[in-house]
Amino acid sequence: MSSQTDMQLRDMLWEDVDAVLALEQQVHSHPWTRGMFNDSLASGYLCKIYEAAHEMVGYAVLMPALDEVHLLDIGIARAWQGKGFGYELLNIIKELCSGARFERIILEVRRSNLAANALYRKAGFSEIGVRRSYYPADNGREDAIVMEYKLK
Ligand SMILES: CC(C)(COP(=O)(O)OP(=O)(O)OC[C@H]1O[C@@H](n2cnc3c(N)ncnc32)[C@H](O)[C@@H]1OP(=O)(O)O)[C@@H](O)C(=O)NCCC(=O)NCCS
Repeated sequence: MSSQTDMQLRDMLWEDVDAVLALEQQVHSHPWTRGMFNDSLASGYLCKIYEAAHEMVGYAVLMPALDEVHLLDIGIARAWQGKGFGYELLNIIKELCSGARFERIILEVRRSNLAANALYRKAGFSEIGVRRSYYPADNGREDAIVMEYKLK
């Protein structure tokens, strides 16, 4: 088992999309499509792979917009969950963004996603709003909690 000191963050490449998509489908109830990852890469979003000795542990996609960055997607492979890697990945993302021009990170999270809600709160994000019926859900629609982390 790798420790967090063995981990590295690198740019996602086009050839990573198959593996990222497989991981996305493993961990998300309503996964992104291949087109969404392709569009993110083509748009120059911050698309990152978090890995240990070339094994993909997780990934994240962030969309810069003026003075803020929107965390669009994040996932940790099921075998690596519950070991602190999601928290560590968020900390690395915060460092990356605070070294750039951004003033805050924002994100939306499903109200029912208790693990992600708890992770973001532990990482210092706070709730700033609710988007009603924002996400498709198994039984209709589901609210998104909007959260922010102030970098400055
Ligand atoms: C959400 C996710 C990224 C968390 O990653 P992780 O590596 O498992 O999380 P960590 O081990 O770093 O845990 C950090 C904190 O998150 C919270 N957390 C993680 N898993 C949890 C769970 N199953 N239930 C409740 N809280 C949980 C806890 O607050 C935890 O802190 P603690 O260990 O001190 O209690 C991971 O579960 C995942 O990939 N989920 C599917 C994709 C997803 O939901 N992405 C977010 C979409 S907005």
